[in-house]
Amino acid sequence: MGRATKVVLAYSGGVDTSVCIPYLKNEWGVEEVITLAADLGQGDELEPIRKKALASGASESLVIDGTESFVKDCAFPAIQANALYENRYPLSTALARPLIAKMLVDAAEKYGADAIAHGCTGKGNDQVRFDVSIGALNPNIKILAPAREWKMSREETIAYGEKFGIPSPVKKSSPYSLDRNLLGMAIEAGILEDPWEEPPEDIYLMTKAIADTPNEPEYIEIGFEKGIPVTLNSKAVSPVALIQQLNQIVGNHGVGRIDMVENRLIGIKSREIYETPALSVLIQAHRDLESLTLTADVTHYKRGIEETYSQIIYNGQWYSPLKAALDAFVLNTQERVTGVVRVKLFKGNATVVGRKSENSLYSFDLATYGSDDNFDHKAAEGFIYVWGLPTRVWSQKGRS
Ligand code: ARG
Repeated sequence: MGRATKVVLAYSGGVDTSVCIPYLKNEWGVEEVITLAADLGQGDELEPIRKKALASGASESLVIDGTESFVKDCAFPAIQANALYENRYPLSTALARPLIAKMLVDAAEKYGADAIAHGCTGKGNDQVRFDVSIGALNPNIKILAPAREWKMSREETIAYGEKFGIPSPVKKSSPYSLDRNLLGMAIEAGILEDPWEEPPEDIYLMTKAIADTPNEPEYIEIGFEKGIPVTLNSKAVSPVALIQQLNQIVGNHGVGRIDMVENRLIGIKSREIYETPALSVLIQAHRDLESLTLTADVTHYKRGIEETYSQIIYNGQWYSPLKAALDAFVLNTQERVTGVVRVKLFKGNATVVGRKSENSLYSFDLATYGSDDNFDHKAAEGFIYVWGLPTRVWSQKGRS
Protein backbone atom coordinates (compact mmCIF):
# COMPACT_ATOMS: atom_id res chain seq x y z
CA MET A 1 0.00 0.00 0.00
CA GLY A 2 1.40 3.36 -1.02
CA ARG A 3 0.93 6.61 0.79
CA ALA A 4 -1.72 7.69 -1.68
CA THR A 5 -3.27 6.43 -4.91
CA LYS A 6 -3.81 9.48 -7.04
CA VAL A 7 -1.89 12.67 -6.42
CA VAL A 8 -2.10 16.22 -7.76
CA LEU A 9 1.40 17.70 -7.71
CA ALA A 10 2.22 21.42 -7.72
CA TYR A 11 4.58 21.63 -10.66
CA SER A 12 7.07 24.29 -11.73
CA GLY A 13 9.06 22.42 -14.36
CA GLY A 14 12.25 22.59 -12.29
CA VAL A 15 14.37 19.63 -11.23
CA ASP A 16 12.82 19.22 -7.79
CA THR A 17 9.19 19.09 -8.80
CA SER A 18 10.07 16.94 -11.83
CA VAL A 19 11.90 14.43 -9.62
CA CYS A 20 8.85 14.37 -7.36
CA ILE A 21 6.94 12.55 -10.12
CA PRO A 22 9.03 9.31 -10.29
CA TYR A 23 9.78 9.60 -6.58
CA LEU A 24 6.12 9.59 -5.60
CA LYS A 25 5.45 6.62 -7.88
CA ASN A 26 8.52 4.54 -7.13
CA GLU A 27 9.30 5.28 -3.49
CA TRP A 28 5.87 6.07 -2.11
CA GLY A 29 3.72 3.75 -4.22
CA VAL A 30 1.57 6.42 -5.79
CA GLU A 31 -0.25 5.06 -8.85
CA GLU A 32 -1.00 8.24 -10.70
CA VAL A 33 0.52 11.73 -10.63
CA ILE A 34 -1.35 14.66 -12.16
CA THR A 35 0.75 17.81 -12.33
CA LEU A 36 -0.56 21.32 -12.07
CA ALA A 37 1.48 24.31 -13.21
CA ALA A 38 0.01 27.66 -12.25
CA ASP A 39 0.64 30.61 -14.52
CA LEU A 40 0.93 33.62 -12.24
CA GLY A 41 2.79 35.79 -14.69
CA GLN A 42 6.23 34.37 -13.88
CA GLY A 43 7.15 34.68 -17.54
CA ASP A 44 7.98 31.01 -18.11
CA GLU A 45 6.95 29.35 -21.30
CA LEU A 46 4.34 26.92 -20.17
CA GLU A 47 4.00 24.55 -23.10
CA PRO A 48 7.49 23.03 -22.57
CA ILE A 49 6.69 22.73 -18.87
CA ARG A 50 3.44 20.94 -19.66
CA LYS A 51 5.28 18.50 -21.90
CA LYS A 52 8.10 17.99 -19.44
CA ALA A 53 5.68 16.79 -16.77
CA LEU A 54 4.32 14.16 -19.14
CA ALA A 55 7.85 13.11 -20.13
CA SER A 56 8.67 12.76 -16.44
CA GLY A 57 5.83 10.33 -15.89
CA ALA A 58 2.75 12.40 -15.14
CA SER A 59 -0.53 10.91 -16.35
CA GLU A 60 -2.01 14.33 -16.91
CA SER A 61 -0.39 17.76 -17.06
CA LEU A 62 -2.53 20.76 -16.23
CA VAL A 63 -1.57 24.36 -16.88
CA ILE A 64 -3.88 26.93 -15.36
CA ASP A 65 -3.77 30.66 -15.90
CA GLY A 66 -4.39 32.34 -12.57
CA THR A 67 -2.93 35.73 -13.39
CA GLU A 68 -6.10 37.74 -13.26
CA SER A 69 -7.32 36.19 -10.05
CA PHE A 70 -3.85 36.68 -8.60
CA VAL A 71 -4.08 40.41 -9.11
CA LYS A 72 -7.77 40.90 -8.30
CA ASP A 73 -8.23 38.48 -5.44
CA CYS A 74 -4.76 38.48 -3.88
CA ALA A 75 -2.83 41.64 -4.72
CA PHE A 76 -5.67 44.17 -4.58
CA PRO A 77 -6.89 43.22 -1.08
CA ALA A 78 -3.25 43.33 0.07
CA ILE A 79 -2.90 46.83 -1.38
CA GLN A 80 -6.08 47.93 0.40
CA ALA A 81 -4.51 46.61 3.59
CA ASN A 82 -1.13 48.25 2.82
CA ALA A 83 0.29 44.82 3.60
CA LEU A 84 4.03 44.92 4.24
CA TYR A 85 5.55 42.12 6.29
CA GLU A 86 7.90 43.54 8.89
CA ASN A 87 7.06 46.90 7.39
CA ARG A 88 8.96 46.16 4.17
CA TYR A 89 8.13 43.03 2.20
CA PRO A 90 4.95 43.40 0.11
CA LEU A 91 4.39 39.63 0.20
CA SER A 92 4.75 38.97 -3.54
CA THR A 93 5.58 35.30 -3.02
CA ALA A 94 3.33 34.72 -0.03
CA LEU A 95 0.27 36.06 -1.87
CA ALA A 96 0.60 33.43 -4.60
CA ARG A 97 0.46 30.41 -2.31
CA PRO A 98 -3.20 30.45 -1.24
CA LEU A 99 -4.26 30.79 -4.87
CA ILE A 100 -2.09 27.85 -5.97
CA ALA A 101 -3.45 25.85 -3.03
CA LYS A 102 -6.99 26.59 -4.24
CA MET A 103 -6.14 25.41 -7.76
CA LEU A 104 -4.61 22.22 -6.34
CA VAL A 105 -7.63 21.45 -4.17
CA ASP A 106 -10.05 22.15 -7.04
CA ALA A 107 -8.07 19.81 -9.29
CA ALA A 108 -7.83 17.11 -6.62
CA GLU A 109 -11.59 17.22 -6.15
CA LYS A 110 -12.26 17.22 -9.89
CA TYR A 111 -9.96 14.28 -10.61
CA GLY A 112 -10.78 12.35 -7.46
CA ALA A 113 -7.23 12.49 -6.07
CA ASP A 114 -6.67 11.48 -2.46
CA ALA A 115 -3.54 13.60 -1.97
CA ILE A 116 -1.81 16.80 -3.00
CA ALA A 117 1.98 17.01 -3.25
CA HIS A 118 4.40 19.92 -3.42
CA GLY A 119 8.17 20.25 -3.72
CA CYS A 120 8.83 22.51 -0.72
CA THR A 121 11.63 21.69 1.67
CA GLY A 122 11.23 21.74 5.43
CA LYS A 123 12.93 25.07 5.99
CA GLY A 124 10.75 27.64 4.33
CA ASN A 125 7.47 29.47 4.72
CA ASP A 126 5.90 28.11 1.57
CA GLN A 127 5.41 24.58 2.91
CA VAL A 128 3.44 26.11 5.78
CA ARG A 129 1.35 28.22 3.41
CA PHE A 130 0.54 25.26 1.16
CA ASP A 131 -0.21 22.82 3.96
CA VAL A 132 -2.32 25.20 6.01
CA SER A 133 -4.24 26.50 2.98
CA ILE A 134 -4.93 23.03 1.59
CA GLY A 135 -6.07 21.86 5.01
CA ALA A 136 -8.40 24.84 5.28
CA LEU A 137 -9.95 24.26 1.86
CA ASN A 138 -10.33 20.50 2.20
CA PRO A 139 -9.21 18.90 5.46
CA ASN A 140 -9.75 15.40 4.01
CA ILE A 141 -6.99 15.60 1.42
CA LYS A 142 -3.60 14.16 2.36
CA ILE A 143 -0.53 16.30 1.83
CA LEU A 144 2.73 14.82 0.59
CA ALA A 145 6.00 16.74 0.60
CA PRO A 146 8.72 14.43 -0.77
CA ALA A 147 11.49 17.06 -0.57
CA ARG A 148 10.81 17.42 3.14
CA GLU A 149 11.78 13.78 3.59
CA TRP A 150 14.03 12.57 0.81
CA LYS A 151 17.32 13.89 2.21
CA MET A 152 18.93 14.04 -1.26
CA SER A 153 21.52 16.70 -2.04
CA ARG A 154 21.15 18.76 -5.20
CA GLU A 155 23.51 16.38 -7.05
CA GLU A 156 21.68 13.30 -5.77
CA THR A 157 18.35 14.78 -6.80
CA ILE A 158 19.65 15.41 -10.33
CA ALA A 159 21.14 11.88 -10.49
CA TYR A 160 17.85 10.38 -9.29
CA GLY A 161 15.99 12.28 -11.99
CA GLU A 162 18.39 11.16 -14.70
CA LYS A 163 17.54 7.52 -13.94
CA PHE A 164 14.00 8.36 -14.99
CA GLY A 165 14.86 10.40 -18.04
CA ILE A 166 14.64 13.81 -16.38
CA PRO A 167 17.43 15.85 -17.95
CA SER A 168 19.82 17.65 -15.64
CA PRO A 169 19.54 21.45 -15.96
CA VAL A 170 21.13 22.63 -19.21
CA LYS A 171 22.38 25.95 -17.97
CA LYS A 172 24.76 25.84 -15.08
CA SER A 173 22.12 26.36 -12.49
CA SER A 174 22.06 29.76 -10.80
CA PRO A 175 23.56 29.89 -7.31
CA TYR A 176 20.41 31.66 -6.18
CA SER A 177 17.00 30.43 -5.25
CA LEU A 178 14.45 32.44 -7.18
CA ASP A 179 10.74 32.78 -6.95
CA ARG A 180 9.07 34.90 -9.56
CA ASN A 181 5.57 35.94 -10.45
CA LEU A 182 3.79 39.00 -11.83
CA LEU A 183 4.09 40.82 -8.52
CA GLY A 184 7.77 40.35 -8.03
CA MET A 185 11.00 38.45 -7.63
CA ALA A 186 12.35 36.88 -4.45
CA ILE A 187 16.03 36.04 -4.52
CA GLU A 188 18.00 34.22 -1.87
CA ALA A 189 20.98 31.89 -1.28
CA GLY A 190 24.43 31.99 -2.87
CA ILE A 191 26.50 34.96 -1.78
CA LEU A 192 23.35 36.60 -0.40
CA GLU A 193 23.50 34.20 2.54
CA ASP A 194 26.07 36.58 4.03
CA PRO A 195 23.95 39.53 5.18
CA TRP A 196 27.03 41.79 5.02
CA GLU A 197 27.59 41.19 1.30
CA GLU A 198 26.12 43.73 -1.10
CA PRO A 199 23.87 42.00 -3.64
CA PRO A 200 25.59 41.75 -7.02
CA GLU A 201 23.92 43.94 -9.63
CA ASP A 202 23.24 41.00 -11.96
CA ILE A 203 20.66 39.40 -9.68
CA TYR A 204 18.12 42.09 -10.48
CA LEU A 205 15.71 41.40 -13.32
CA MET A 206 12.83 43.82 -12.85
CA THR A 207 14.61 47.00 -11.76
CA LYS A 208 17.42 48.95 -13.37
CA ALA A 209 20.63 49.93 -11.64
CA ILE A 210 20.59 53.61 -10.67
CA ALA A 211 23.47 54.24 -13.07
CA ASP A 212 21.25 53.12 -15.96
CA THR A 213 18.05 54.92 -15.03
CA PRO A 214 16.81 58.00 -16.91
CA ASN A 215 18.32 61.33 -15.94
CA GLU A 216 14.91 62.97 -16.02
CA PRO A 217 12.16 62.28 -13.49
CA GLU A 218 8.93 60.67 -14.68
CA TYR A 219 5.54 61.52 -13.22
CA ILE A 220 2.75 58.99 -13.10
CA GLU A 221 -0.82 59.30 -11.89
CA ILE A 222 -2.52 56.34 -10.30
CA GLY A 223 -6.29 56.48 -9.90
CA PHE A 224 -7.99 54.44 -7.17
CA GLU A 225 -11.62 53.50 -6.71
CA LYS A 226 -12.53 52.27 -3.25
CA GLY A 227 -8.89 51.45 -2.63
CA ILE A 228 -8.43 49.55 -5.91
CA PRO A 229 -6.09 50.95 -8.55
CA VAL A 230 -8.07 51.38 -11.76
CA THR A 231 -6.37 54.02 -13.90
CA LEU A 232 -2.84 54.86 -14.92
CA ASN A 233 -2.26 58.36 -16.25
CA SER A 234 -6.02 58.87 -16.55
CA LYS A 235 -6.51 55.75 -18.69
CA ALA A 236 -8.56 52.83 -17.42
CA VAL A 237 -6.39 49.71 -17.33
CA SER A 238 -7.26 46.11 -16.54
CA PRO A 239 -5.80 44.72 -13.31
CA VAL A 240 -3.13 42.58 -14.99
CA ALA A 241 -2.14 45.27 -17.51
CA LEU A 242 -1.85 47.80 -14.71
CA ILE A 243 0.67 45.67 -12.84
CA GLN A 244 2.58 44.87 -16.03
CA GLN A 245 2.79 48.50 -17.12
CA LEU A 246 3.72 49.74 -13.68
CA ASN A 247 6.42 47.09 -13.28
CA GLN A 248 7.93 48.39 -16.49
CA ILE A 249 7.67 52.11 -15.73
CA VAL A 250 8.68 51.91 -12.09
CA GLY A 251 11.45 49.35 -12.62
CA ASN A 252 12.93 51.57 -15.29
CA HIS A 253 13.69 54.13 -12.57
CA GLY A 254 15.30 51.56 -10.30
CA VAL A 255 12.45 51.65 -7.80
CA GLY A 256 11.21 48.59 -5.93
CA ARG A 257 14.30 46.85 -4.58
CA ILE A 258 14.24 45.53 -1.04
CA ASP A 259 17.18 43.96 0.77
CA MET A 260 16.17 42.59 4.13
CA VAL A 261 16.80 40.04 6.82
CA GLU A 262 13.41 38.63 7.67
CA ASN A 263 11.97 36.37 10.32
CA ARG A 264 10.54 33.20 8.83
CA LEU A 265 7.65 31.55 10.58
CA ILE A 266 9.71 28.45 11.30
CA GLY A 267 12.15 30.44 13.41
CA ILE A 268 15.02 31.00 10.97
CA LYS A 269 16.24 34.43 9.97
CA SER A 270 16.92 34.68 6.26
CA ARG A 271 18.32 37.35 3.99
CA GLU A 272 16.12 37.93 1.00
CA ILE A 273 16.20 40.36 -1.89
CA TYR A 274 12.93 41.41 -3.45
CA GLU A 275 11.98 43.30 -6.55
CA THR A 276 8.37 44.44 -6.45
CA PRO A 277 8.20 47.66 -8.51
CA ALA A 278 4.47 47.93 -9.16
CA LEU A 279 3.32 46.55 -5.84
CA SER A 280 5.62 48.77 -3.77
CA VAL A 281 4.52 51.95 -5.50
CA LEU A 282 0.85 50.97 -5.42
CA ILE A 283 0.97 50.47 -1.66
CA GLN A 284 2.80 53.76 -1.20
CA ALA A 285 0.27 55.63 -3.35
CA HIS A 286 -2.70 53.90 -1.74
CA ARG A 287 -1.53 54.70 1.76
CA ASP A 288 -1.13 58.32 0.74
CA LEU A 289 -4.66 58.50 -0.63
CA GLU A 290 -5.90 57.09 2.67
CA SER A 291 -4.20 59.96 4.47
CA LEU A 292 -6.49 62.29 2.54
CA THR A 293 -9.72 60.30 2.78
CA LEU A 294 -9.76 58.44 6.11
CA THR A 295 -10.35 59.99 9.51
CA ALA A 296 -7.45 60.09 11.94
CA ASP A 297 -8.83 57.39 14.23
CA VAL A 298 -9.52 54.94 11.40
CA THR A 299 -6.06 55.60 9.93
CA HIS A 300 -4.36 54.95 13.24
CA TYR A 301 -6.44 51.90 14.12
CA LYS A 302 -5.91 50.47 10.66
CA ARG A 303 -2.12 50.50 11.13
CA GLY A 304 -2.45 47.76 13.72
CA ILE A 305 -4.81 45.78 11.50
CA GLU A 306 -2.36 46.09 8.62
CA GLU A 307 0.45 44.67 10.71
CA THR A 308 -1.64 41.67 11.75
CA TYR A 309 -2.98 41.26 8.22
CA SER A 310 0.57 41.09 6.84
CA GLN A 311 1.58 38.50 9.40
CA ILE A 312 -1.47 36.41 8.59
CA ILE A 313 -0.56 36.35 4.90
CA TYR A 314 3.10 35.65 5.63
CA ASN A 315 2.23 32.88 8.05
CA GLY A 316 -0.09 31.02 5.70
CA GLN A 317 -3.43 31.85 7.33
CA TRP A 318 -5.11 33.24 4.22
CA TYR A 319 -8.16 31.02 4.65
CA SER A 320 -8.50 31.61 8.38
CA PRO A 321 -11.46 33.16 10.20
CA LEU A 322 -9.23 35.99 11.47
CA LYS A 323 -8.27 36.89 7.92
CA ALA A 324 -11.93 36.95 6.89
CA ALA A 325 -12.77 39.23 9.81
CA LEU A 326 -9.93 41.62 9.05
CA ASP A 327 -10.92 41.64 5.37
CA ALA A 328 -14.33 42.90 6.41
CA PHE A 329 -12.73 45.70 8.41
CA VAL A 330 -10.37 46.70 5.61
CA LEU A 331 -13.10 46.62 2.98
CA ASN A 332 -15.33 48.80 5.09
CA THR A 333 -12.59 51.42 5.39
CA GLN A 334 -12.15 51.61 1.62
CA GLU A 335 -15.60 52.98 0.82
CA ARG A 336 -14.28 56.52 0.22
CA VAL A 337 -10.68 55.77 -0.80
CA THR A 338 -11.23 57.07 -4.32
CA GLY A 339 -8.98 59.58 -6.00
CA VAL A 340 -5.72 60.15 -7.80
CA VAL A 341 -2.14 60.07 -6.55
CA ARG A 342 0.74 61.64 -8.44
CA VAL A 343 4.08 59.91 -8.04
CA LYS A 344 7.49 61.14 -9.13
CA LEU A 345 9.98 58.44 -10.12
CA PHE A 346 13.60 59.36 -10.18
CA LYS A 347 16.89 57.58 -9.52
CA GLY A 348 15.60 54.79 -7.32
CA ASN A 349 13.03 56.91 -5.52
CA ALA A 350 9.28 57.02 -5.73
CA THR A 351 7.88 60.14 -4.11
CA VAL A 352 4.25 61.04 -3.80
CA VAL A 353 4.06 64.68 -4.87
CA GLY A 354 0.30 65.16 -5.14
CA ARG A 355 -3.03 63.62 -4.22
CA LYS A 356 -6.67 64.55 -4.80
CA SER A 357 -10.05 63.07 -4.08
CA GLU A 358 -13.72 63.96 -4.29
CA ASN A 359 -13.88 62.51 -0.78
CA SER A 360 -10.97 64.52 0.56
CA LEU A 361 -11.26 65.39 4.24
CA TYR A 362 -8.60 68.03 3.84
CA SER A 363 -10.15 71.41 4.39
CA PHE A 364 -8.31 74.40 3.02
CA ASP A 365 -10.30 76.78 5.23
CA LEU A 366 -9.23 74.90 8.32
CA ALA A 367 -5.63 74.26 7.32
CA THR A 368 -4.65 77.60 5.89
CA TYR A 369 -2.57 80.18 7.74
CA GLY A 370 -3.76 82.83 5.30
CA SER A 371 -6.68 85.24 5.52
CA ASP A 372 -9.23 82.54 4.64
CA ASP A 373 -8.59 80.91 7.99
CA ASN A 374 -11.87 79.59 9.39
CA PHE A 375 -10.58 77.82 12.45
CA ASP A 376 -11.72 79.08 15.85
CA HIS A 377 -8.36 79.59 17.58
CA LYS A 378 -9.97 80.45 20.91
CA ALA A 379 -11.62 77.03 21.05
CA ALA A 380 -8.21 75.40 21.31
CA GLU A 381 -7.64 76.78 24.78
CA GLY A 382 -10.48 74.90 26.49
CA PHE A 383 -9.57 71.76 24.61
CA ILE A 384 -5.97 71.94 25.80
CA TYR A 385 -7.09 72.59 29.39
CA VAL A 386 -9.06 69.32 29.39
CA TRP A 387 -6.60 67.35 27.27
CA GLY A 388 -3.66 68.18 29.52
CA LEU A 389 -5.54 67.82 32.79
CA PRO A 390 -4.49 64.25 33.71
CA THR A 391 -0.83 65.02 33.01
CA ARG A 392 -0.93 68.18 35.13
CA VAL A 393 -2.53 66.30 38.02
CA TRP A 394 0.13 63.59 37.73
CA SER A 395 2.92 66.15 37.65
CA GLN A 396 1.51 68.00 40.68
CA LYS A 397 1.44 64.74 42.65
CA GLY A 398 5.09 64.10 41.89
CA ARG A 399 6.09 67.51 43.24
CA SER A 400 4.38 67.26 46.63
N1 ARG B 1 10.95 34.76 1.90
C1 ARG B 1 9.86 34.91 0.99
C2 ARG B 1 8.57 34.45 1.61
O1 ARG B 1 8.59 33.67 2.52
C3 ARG B 1 10.10 34.26 -0.34
C4 ARG B 1 10.29 32.77 -0.32
C5 ARG B 1 10.77 32.18 -1.62
N2 ARG B 1 12.02 32.78 -1.98
C6 ARG B 1 12.90 32.31 -2.84
N3 ARG B 1 13.92 33.05 -3.11
N4 ARG B 1 12.79 31.15 -3.42
O2 ARG B 1 7.52 34.87 1.20
